[in-house]
Amino acid sequence: AASIPGVEPETCAFDAFRLAVASKLTGPLNIPLEKAYEGVDIGKKGADFTVAVPRFRLGGKPDDWAKKVVDEFKADLWVESVTVDKAFVSFMVRTDTLVNKVLTQIHDLTYRTPSGKPEYGCNHSGKGKKVIIEYSSPNIAKEFHAGHLRSTILGAFLANIHRATGWDVMTINYLGDWGKQFGLVAVGFERYGSEEALKTDAVHHLYDVYVKINKDAETDEAVHDAAREFFKRMEDGDEAAVAQWKRFRDFSLERYKQSYDRLNVDFDVYGGESTVSQKAMQDVIQKMDEMGIIEEGKEKKEGARLINLEKWKLGSPVVQKTDGTSLYITRDIAGAIERHEKYHFDKMIYVAGAPQDMHFAQFFKVLDLMDFPWAKTLEHANFGSILGMSSRKGTAVSLDHILNEAQDTMHEQMKTNETKYANVDDPQKTADEIGMSAVKIQDMAGKRINNYTFNWSRMLSFEGDTGPYLQYAHARLCSVQRKTAQAGLVLPSDVSKINTDLLTEPGARVIVYLLASYPDVVRTAIKTYEPSGVVTYLFRLSHAISAAWETLVVMGQEEELAKARLWLFINARDVLGAGLRLLSLRPLEKM
Ligand code: ARG
Repeated sequence: AASIPGVEPETCAFDAFRLAVASKLTGPLNIPLEKAYEGVDIGKKGADFTVAVPRFRLGGKPDDWAKKVVDEFKADLWVESVTVDKAFVSFMVRTDTLVNKVLTQIHDLTYRTPSGKPEYGCNHSGKGKKVIIEYSSPNIAKEFHAGHLRSTILGAFLANIHRATGWDVMTINYLGDWGKQFGLVAVGFERYGSEEALKTDAVHHLYDVYVKINKDAETDEAVHDAAREFFKRMEDGDEAAVAQWKRFRDFSLERYKQSYDRLNVDFDVYGGESTVSQKAMQDVIQKMDEMGIIEEGKEKKEGARLINLEKWKLGSPVVQKTDGTSLYITRDIAGAIERHEKYHFDKMIYVAGAPQDMHFAQFFKVLDLMDFPWAKTLEHANFGSILGMSSRKGTAVSLDHILNEAQDTMHEQMKTNETKYANVDDPQKTADEIGMSAVKIQDMAGKRINNYTFNWSRMLSFEGDTGPYLQYAHARLCSVQRKTAQAGLVLPSDVSKINTDLLTEPGARVIVYLLASYPDVVRTAIKTYEPSGVVTYLFRLSHAISAAWETLVVMGQEEELAKARLWLFINARDVLGAGLRLLSLRPLEKM
């Protein structure tokens, strides 16, 4: 059969049907398959499926070609009839073929590797290409703030969606692990530090110390001098200073890793600003000089050296300070060059908040001016702010506080249903997973560029479009399978024996339609980098499933029908689970 790049009928039933229709257009219209495919769109009409082709899209004289299409039409396994109206040529899909095809694909693709990877819905569009995704990137000794939380959640999603579309993915955590703050922390640690606390929870302890010493520094300039002096020693490679810095970094990293494990997030490389070599930075400045793109700063910027990007309305970022110490942007420029030399990526995505839009635009532009052809492959996946992220009592808090509070609230809630609670294997862990689902889904429910207000009661509710609701929908589907198995209803291992033609109710067809759409949802997400499309989809799927409980009863039905319905629910569960994993959630089986 003819194929079109990016169209994968073996893993996407809709593709198979769109192809079938497109191939009925090529002859009468005398156009290539690819062109015909562009105009083809699958939809649902009542309990049935249609492929509608807008008549204007294909050019020519609409009446002539519509007549030709109808004249030459032959029914087959995929399409049964064709009708023409003013705006569309509509093909009626063989619904039983579609229902069977979709469910079989989900089954085959999910069970081939029962490793928890989201296989159904995946495609190969990124095959042979390498992407680096840099995300989370907190600043050691400073606060892990809402921006880092969003970067972590969105970055994990972007890594997953690239893996799901065949990319070779490498993830980097670019820690803020260099700079004067370490001088401050070192001075503060002398005054307020505790070895004990450093070992048990470096992240919070160092932040504590940092806050205290900053307070001292407000009234005592000597603290600043000592901090600057310490950081200078670090940059000069003084052994004792570097050793102390390294301890702070190592203990913090250990603590961060615990949080990342908890969040179901990981990194191939823990890099950081400290890993960009002095040499790389000198080389960059030298190259800029040779190319003549550096200007000497005037007036307020006297002594500093900068790059004039006014032509592109991007200001004039300073790339070298008067005292010669390095800068955030210079580290990023040199770091990108080092990464490209080392990893040869086809694209690199930086996941960071919208307040850094200017920074990324500047540093991408500088690399472009330096004639690096790959500068065009750099992307900034930005996002808005979380407003009012505080504990339930209203005080500003760390990531752990937020996750713990969500966990505790969910745990209390679970205890109110004693029978269910007794059945859950590890209530603490389950409560934690539900709590994190609440936080994550709230974060990914809207367009990423939008700000949102952190809302405890809304996000933790089991009703409405929330993380707990999605987890509940999944757990309920798992329980159907457990209960039916207990009652002796088991599906044949040869699933072709299941009679999917019995799935005729509108409620069943809605679910099938949604299941078939999932590969398209993944394709949209890899284009837009928007997790909200996946979240919305999962809500629609969950609503369709819960609406079907009453009409698609499994227990007590005639066996063939019971099996068909059970199979539909199991496939729905698998797609729901795949979608949740794509969003970095761990689908729950009991809750
Ligand atoms: N550590 C930075 C911050 O907290 C984020 C790093 C973003 N990535 C980068 N390559 N500049 O603001």
